Amino acid sequence: MKIKQCSLSKKVWIVLLAGLALLLVQSLVYAADPVTASAAPKLANDDCAKCHSKPPADIAAEGRKHKTEIGCQDCHNGHPPTTKKIIPLCSQCHEGKAHFKLAACTSCHSNPHTPLKITFGNNVTDPCVTCHAGQIVKLRDNKSKHTALACSFCHNTHGKIPDCTKCHKTHFAEQTTADCKKCHQAHMPKNVAYNEKTPSKDCAACHKKAYDLLSASKFKHSKLACVACHQAKHKMVPQCQSCHGTRHPAAMLAKFPNCGFCHSIAHDLNNFKDAAPPAAAAVKPPAVIKTKKK
Ligand code: HEC
Ligand code: HEC
Ligand code: HEC
Ligand code: HEC
Ligand code: HEC
Ligand code: HEC
Ligand code: HEC
Ligand code: HEC
Ligand code: HEC
Ligand code: HEC
Ligand code: HEC
Ligand code: HEC
Repeated sequence: MKIKQCSLSKKVWIVLLAGLALLLVQSLVYAADPVTASAAPKLANDDCAKCHSKPPADIAAEGRKHKTEIGCQDCHNGHPPTTKKIIPLCSQCHEGKAHFKLAACTSCHSNPHTPLKITFGNNVTDPCVTCHAGQIVKLRDNKSKHTALACSFCHNTHGKIPDCTKCHKTHFAEQTTADCKKCHQAHMPKNVAYNEKTPSKDCAACHKKAYDLLSASKFKHSKLACVACHQAKHKMVPQCQSCHGTRHPAAMLAKFPNCGFCHSIAHDLNNFKDAAPPAAAAVKPPAVIKTKKK
């Protein structure tokens, strides 16, 4: 029902006046209140539904605090034709927070009778920040292509968290949105970090060569996950000594500071127990190296 328009048909006026007269008679009969009995009949909140169907139905279903904390007439003070302007401003009751300084409250709270049914376009950022401060800080301090997107480009319904895979391809077939979050954060997606539980196949999506080499290696490093060595932050490369300490005599390490000189690379070690020593190591007598294991 759309009865807000000013141009009322005669029929509507008759209905309105007849209804009001009826209510007047009722109130005269049931209440001896002298105020009620004056020229304009006093309406009760329960009367509204006799002529208006949608607002009372909306309030009943989704009125939330506009139902529990206030009644129709706290907002609609009086009634036409006696009182002309009975549509309240939000600011009559909502003041004092940054959020209440926004323009066009009803662009989001589109129906005051269902105040928490919120709708907005896909280019909203500033109003969100009146309540959520942390995300914008992360987005701006860690520049990425997400920084240029509006909050509601991703959160197009209030409170809804989008799947990464709604907008992005996965790095490999079986990945899900839950996997993305092992390495990326939505509001700072370029700061890739991961924990010690991240499986090696997640890295293999982009580092197939390293993965294949390590998997095929017969040495003990092949039992380790990528993240056991490349810890926490993407592109971190560990020092051999961080795990093995000074495995060999200082004099030898001073001469050969690069472990790889003898052991080749971490992904495909050269360990002299099982494999032939490399040419370089063969040049040096291994006696120096023979130290007791720790
Ligand atoms: C007897 C029928 C009747 C009752 C009862 C009634 N209304 Fe109305 N109401 C109307 C009619 C008809 C109009 C259209 C009049 C106009 O816009 O000038 C209207 C208009 C309105 C408007 C729109 C005003 C505007 O400026 O657009 C509001 C708000 C409203 N009523 C609220 C209420 C509330 C709240 C109650 C209960 C306290 C109530 N009405 C009870 C018939 C009624
Ligand atoms: C929190 C304040 C608030 C409360 C409570 C409230 N209204 Fe409203 N109502 C409004 C506002 C604001 C508008 C104008 C909406 C617009 O412009 O779209 C409105 C519009 C209306 C209208 C005219 C437009 C329409 O949707 O038909 C009617 C009729 C109406 N209200 C009736 C009621 C009734 C009946 C109740 C109680 C069951 C009620 N309202 C409770 C704020 C309120
Ligand atoms: C007559 C006073 C009054 C008017 C006018 C009014 N409100 Fe409210 N509103 C309240 C009260 C009281 C509450 C409950 C306490 C609070 O949250 O501040 C409330 C709560 C709300 C809530 C939270 C609802 C919930 O259940 O948590 C929203 C959203 C809201 N109002 C939006 C609006 C908007 C938008 C307008 C203007 C279209 C408006 N209000 C006009 C009195 C009013
Ligand atoms: C860009 C959209 C948007 C605009 C514009 C907007 N709001 Fe809100 N408002 C929201 C969202 C989202 C919430 C959070 C709802 C929730 O808690 O689920 C909210 C919550 C509220 C609440 C309840 C929480 C609280 O802080 O009390 C009130 C009251 C409210 N708004 C009033 C207003 C008023 C008044 C205006 C205009 C001055 C306004 N809003 C403008 C989106 C908006
Ligand atoms: C008036 C304050 C208010 C405004 C404005 C507001 N929110 Fe919220 N938002 C809340 C509240 C309250 C919650 C529910 C409590 C919570 O989980 O933090 C919430 C929840 C959320 C959630 C879900 C959080 C979770 O942990 O699941 C997201 C996402 C969100 N809001 C995004 C937005 C976006 C985007 C906007 C702007 C379009 C916005 N909010 C505007 C108050 C607001
Ligand atoms: C609503 C769509 C949307 C969602 C949801 C989304 N993104 Fe994006 N993302 C984009 C767009 C658009 C770009 C920019 C693409 C371009 O310009 O090539 C982007 C870029 C990126 C980039 C590259 C950033 C840069 O600066 O190079 C990464 C990484 C990324 N997204 C990861 C994620 C992850 C992880 C998630 C889930 C937590 C996610 N995205 C959710 C739309 C989205
Ligand atoms: C590229 C899409 C995208 C953009 C842009 C975006 N978010 Fe998010 N947001 C997400 C995703 C995905 C999550 C879920 C993160 C998770 O589960 O770890 C999220 C989570 C949230 C949460 C829940 C709490 C948290 O921090 O994890 C809030 C609140 C939120 N976003 C608000 C915002 C606000 C406010 C903006 C704008 C300043 C914004 N978001 C911009 C995708 C986005
Ligand atoms: C094991 C960690 C890891 C996981 C899990 C992961 N990513 Fe990434 N992602 C990265 C790294 C590292 C980069 C950056 C590569 C670079 O520096 O170019 C990246 C880059 C991106 C980019 C930028 C464009 C590109 O392809 O280079 C997007 C978009 C992206 N990831 C989305 C996702 C999505 C969506 C998921 C979940 C399905 C996901 N990522 C899961 C580590 C991961
Ligand atoms: C989305 C693809 C992607 C994913 C997933 C990914 N990386 Fe990378 N990684 C890259 C790119 C691109 C580079 C930069 C290569 C270059 O600079 O040549 C890189 C560089 C590295 C480097 C540094 C190499 C150097 O030369 O310094 C290491 C170490 C590394 N990644 C380990 C990992 C580990 C461990 C994982 C799994 C937790 C992983 N990466 C997941 C794309 C990815
Ligand atoms: C994150 C810790 C870590 C780092 C970094 C690391 N290793 Fe290891 N390494 C291990 C573990 C664990 C083993 C297996 C020990 C065992 O089971 O006795 C091992 C085993 C070895 C072995 C014996 C292999 C075998 O199969 O018998 C050699 C040789 C070795 N590492 C050399 C290196 C060299 C050289 C580097 C640097 C390029 C390096 N490691 C970096 C943890 C590490
Ligand atoms: C035992 C520790 C260890 C493990 C396990 C390990 N790495 Fe490495 N990785 C290193 C070290 C140390 C380097 C530096 C080169 C060197 O000295 O071997 C390196 C170098 C790299 C590089 C850059 C050079 C290159 O070979 O491309 C990438 C990328 C890389 N690792 C990815 C991975 C991935 C992916 C995995 C899991 C499949 C993995 N690493 C497992 C220790 C390790
Ligand atoms: C000059 C060649 C050479 C250099 C340089 C060298 N190693 Fe070795 N390493 C050996 C030989 C030969 C063995 C096998 C004999 C042994 O067990 O002592 C060995 C054994 C090891 C072992 C024990 C393997 C096992 O089976 O238990 C570890 C761990 C190791 N080296 C780590 C390192 C690290 C870390 C560095 C660099 C700081 C390094 N090595 C530098 C030649 C070298």
